[in-house]
Amino acid sequence: MKKILVTGGLGFIGSHTVVELQNEGFEVVIIDDLSNSSIEVLDGITSITGAKPIFEKLDLKHESSVIDFFKKHHTISGVIHFAASKAVGESVEKPLLYYENNLNTLIYLLKEVLLLPASNFIFSSSCTVYGQAEEMPITENAPIQPAESPYGNTKQIGEEIIRDTCKVNTNLNAIALRYFNPIGAHSSAKIGELPIGVPQNLVPYITQTAAGLRESLSVFGNDYQTPDGTCIRDYIHVVDLAKAHVVALQRLLEQKNTSNYETFNVGTGVGSSVLEVIKSFEKVSGQSLNYKFAARREGDITSAYAHTEKANKILGWKAKSSLDEAMKSAWDWEKHIRNL
Ligand code: UD1
Repeated sequence: MKKILVTGGLGFIGSHTVVELQNEGFEVVIIDDLSNSSIEVLDGITSITGAKPIFEKLDLKHESSVIDFFKKHHTISGVIHFAASKAVGESVEKPLLYYENNLNTLIYLLKEVLLLPASNFIFSSSCTVYGQAEEMPITENAPIQPAESPYGNTKQIGEEIIRDTCKVNTNLNAIALRYFNPIGAHSSAKIGELPIGVPQNLVPYITQTAAGLRESLSVFGNDYQTPDGTCIRDYIHVVDLAKAHVVALQRLLEQKNTSNYETFNVGTGVGSSVLEVIKSFEKVSGQSLNYKFAARREGDITSAYAHTEKANKILGWKAKSSLDEAMKSAWDWEKHIRNL
């Protein structure tokens, strides 16, 4: 059984990936500092898979702890690195916190990964690196644009750090996955997204509004150059996204990669407007959502959806869930945690 380290393994995407890894027979070690996650997620994972992952509460900003961790777990065959701060607005207020959290930790991890017998590394990147791309759907060759926020910049710099390290360390094999908009929850409703405070992202805001925690959803802008005037994104079910990590990891473990640094878009290839997401929610929940139009949100782009051919062909991976299925799982999860 191969042992895989998942940093941030109790977070939203991390926890779903741990489930898929365990389902595929991997042994998982989770590192999480619980700064934006809850220890109960471990029970959710255990209940779904029947196996409890090894858990180490550890702050990756402490390099000595990272070194000690790898001394203890020297048989790790691959690392999937999710642990990072991800609130765009907060990153603008606290840039140094974001650079320290997202980049120092990456450097400490990579230094140890290079010393492993198998240096396989998967990085959580984001479609945010493309900014407002000129052509839709967005291919992996679309130019990287100046980042809109320190958060976005940490993803760009993170990719550069890995790419530069791969150039001189041919034993390092890395894949950066550029996620589009992850939504939804596990079909068991035992794990899902747990936003702290007021959600910044669309789907948790919708489900919290429907659950009565928020008065009404503000749709940020209805005067964009899109068919219904609202922004378009590529919403991908988190379980599909989790599975993309497993196939990317398997590609490295089976040494099928053609370069030691590769990037893949992970999206559905379908663009949906904010109003279409609301309609989908209303359809699957059977209730109407209270929403109003508001001013545009600063930093928002008009449209982003993925060209998925590279991931489809090379990874042999394709998103399976529709927007309706993803929205239903998000709503089931919200109802579960609010006891509705
Ligand atoms: C955001 C981040 C992105 C990050 C991603 C992680 C920004 C500008 N971008 O993407 O860098 O990788 O989250 O999940 O924050 N919307 C509303 N009302 C709301 C919330 C959102 O209308 O209350 C709209 C937004 O204007 C946007 C769409 O819903 O058009 C999706 O927003 P969101 O879920 O925040 O994701 P992104 O902005 O695409």
